[in-house]
Amino acid sequence: MWDKEANVARGLAGVIAAVTHISLIDGEQGQLSYCGYDVTELARKSSYEEVSYLLLYGELPTAGQLEAFEQLLLDNRAISPALLDLLRNLPGAPKPADALRTAVSAMAATDSSPSDVSRPANLRRAVRLIAQMPTIAAAHWRMRQGEKPIDPDPSLGHASNFVYMLFGRAPRQVEARFLDMAMILMAEHGLNASTFAARVTAATLADIYAAFTSAIGALNGPLHGAANAEAMKMLLEIGSPEKVEAYIRAQLMAGKRIMGFGHRVYKSGDPRAIVLREVLATLDGDLNKPRWCKMAMEVEDQVHKQKNLYPNVDFYCAPTLYSLGFPMELFTPIFACSRSIGWAAHILEQYDDNKLIRPDAVYDGPAQREYTPLAGRK
Ligand code: COA
Repeated sequence: MWDKEANVARGLAGVIAAVTHISLIDGEQGQLSYCGYDVTELARKSSYEEVSYLLLYGELPTAGQLEAFEQLLLDNRAISPALLDLLRNLPGAPKPADALRTAVSAMAATDSSPSDVSRPANLRRAVRLIAQMPTIAAAHWRMRQGEKPIDPDPSLGHASNFVYMLFGRAPRQVEARFLDMAMILMAEHGLNASTFAARVTAATLADIYAAFTSAIGALNGPLHGAANAEAMKMLLEIGSPEKVEAYIRAQLMAGKRIMGFGHRVYKSGDPRAIVLREVLATLDGDLNKPRWCKMAMEVEDQVHKQKNLYPNVDFYCAPTLYSLGFPMELFTPIFACSRSIGWAAHILEQYDDNKLIRPDAVYDGPAQREYTPLAGRK
């Protein structure tokens, strides 16, 4: 018999499955860098478009390169009428995150040169996906509310345009900046579950749309990208800072997980959560609604005291997005739009030096036995 503890890396924890030049996570120190740049500095000083360029090409852009890249994204924002029809006619009433997954999968059908698997062709596809995912998410959301989709506004940046397509108004500068920061912080994170799913799919040499579809499917689970909405539901359920201690105690006593806490890699804190905590504090003050930061910090304190866990990016992202006016059902699609660049960078990296990803499993089922024909089975 096999030794369960010794031989199986459950959840592939600690297994090194790729060499990457895209990001570095130091779980002990609580640090994250994209192509060598500290993520907290990028979030404070760069735009999502700049960071996207960095992740795709490995270097921060010059002013001219950034302008050309922004134009490329602008040129690719609009979605086809066929895709709009698909979103309008989806059966049932799918959640926005599921509608996004289906639409991204359908984008493969509108690819003009599906047989071209060259790097430039895949880069073009990556830009198209990054540019169109916010348009898809906004169009589906509006149609779901019985409203007409809004065309992209070429005068607005990536994050601001998303807000405009969703609500029909451009965000205030401070709001646009905070959404941009949140998107930068969610843009890339090594071999997290969705990126790994993307790489596994790309490694079969399936196309980039298939890899993105796998990634969105993995992101949509509550242990990954759906944790942000769950964290917000928890804050709403708690209601006020005085109720935090008892609530957390009861949840933990009942063996429940506190959403937005814990991490496979970070053991002393998630640097992205620290930046978003600052954003939330400013936002609370700016919007004159000092509601969430105090309660969220109390939850952080109690979960640390009672379970020794730190908040991850989802925990502070949730009240940040909520304060910015986003409906909770859009939290995971916003995460997907942000992470699209990380997926793209990893898929291209996988294609560049491909090897099928195919781990082993040890067998623990019945021993070899004789086949009984159907008529003889009892
Ligand atoms: N609340 C309560 N307990 C938690 C916890 C949480 N959020 N996260 C981990 N734990 C506990 C587990 O119950 C387990 O305890 P045990 O050893 O007594 O059984 C221990 O910590 C290890 O958890 P495990 O699920 O094995 O760790 P992991 O590395 O596989 O999981 C996560 C990492 C992120 C899936 C996990 O921390 C989690 O479920 N967090 C909540 C969901 C979330 O926020 N996801 C977003 C991640 S960015």
